[in-house]
Amino acid sequence: MTAMTGFLHHGGPPAPSPEEMVAIARILHEEAGIVLHPSKSSMVQSRLAKRLRKLSLDGYGDYIALVNTADGQDERRRMISALTTNVSHFFREAHHFDLLRSTVLPPLIERAKAGGRVRLWSAGCSNGQEPWSMTMVIRDLLPEAHRFDLRILATDIDPEVLARAERGVYPAGALEGLDAGLVARHFRRDPDGHGICDEARALLRFRELNLHGPWPMRGTFDVIFCRNVVIYFDAPAQARLWHRFAGALAPGGTLCVGHSERVPVAPTLPFVTAGITSYRRTEAPLPRREDH
Ligand SMILES: C[S@@+](CC[C@H](N)C(=O)[O-])C[C@H]1O[C@@H](n2cnc3c(N)ncnc32)[C@H](O)[C@@H]1O
Repeated sequence: MTAMTGFLHHGGPPAPSPEEMVAIARILHEEAGIVLHPSKSSMVQSRLAKRLRKLSLDGYGDYIALVNTADGQDERRRMISALTTNVSHFFREAHHFDLLRSTVLPPLIERAKAGGRVRLWSAGCSNGQEPWSMTMVIRDLLPEAHRFDLRILATDIDPEVLARAERGVYPAGALEGLDAGLVARHFRRDPDGHGICDEARALLRFRELNLHGPWPMRGTFDVIFCRNVVIYFDAPAQARLWHRFAGALAPGGTLCVGHSERVPVAPTLPFVTAGITSYRRTEAPLPRREDH
């Protein structure tokens, strides 16, 4: 057995010092636009302990030095992955799925049936429960949806959650509370629990994407869900994103945000309220903005 580093004898590294927290916060902000409050040192300690242990590092100073080197870029991504919050569940904030079912999707489905193009985006999709919930609503309205030009893009900065999302296999506990008929229509038994069925898979594409980086997608979206993501960003970053989402939405398109997030309904943004934490992109042209 290799020599054990000091902290392993005591169950983990101590919390990062204020200076180390500043360095970690700077990296997280640079990479993901996420604001890390200095009071979160015990959260950082618990989330990075496994990485330090795996790398046999004694403390955060060595870890920060590593992720700042050219060779440490893979570890830098793992660090971002460990520090992002990935909580999600099927049909979270159900009112958005009700809005899809009752109001937003019916005309889009008519368009798809007439040969038109329909695009939805789950931005910050975490482990996939959000975009898979979207596919279930779509398939319940149009079981043959995969035969039309109707697709959902699901993106996240974190490759680890994205891999889980793409696998689309969930333990029984994750499906608790879901209607049995819904589970039967959209899932297949899997040795590890329940797997999303192939017809639903055909509707969904996954891609690693940092919301603060380039958006290489072509064409506009009819629906964007970006829920419980911008809450972690500072106000200027949020403002930039609202503007970019407006540019990425087709006129008449719908943007849904998380329960504690709000899009300012201001003359500089072409949005009107469309329901609880939901906004409709108006026909108004996007005002010029120098910094997006
Ligand atoms: C709390 S989860 C929200 C999941 C889902 N939207 C929901 O509401 O259930 C937040 C997600 O945002 C992702 N995220 C954080 N910063 C991001 C960024 N800069 N670009 C893209 N995704 C980011 C995280 O990796 C995480 O999976």
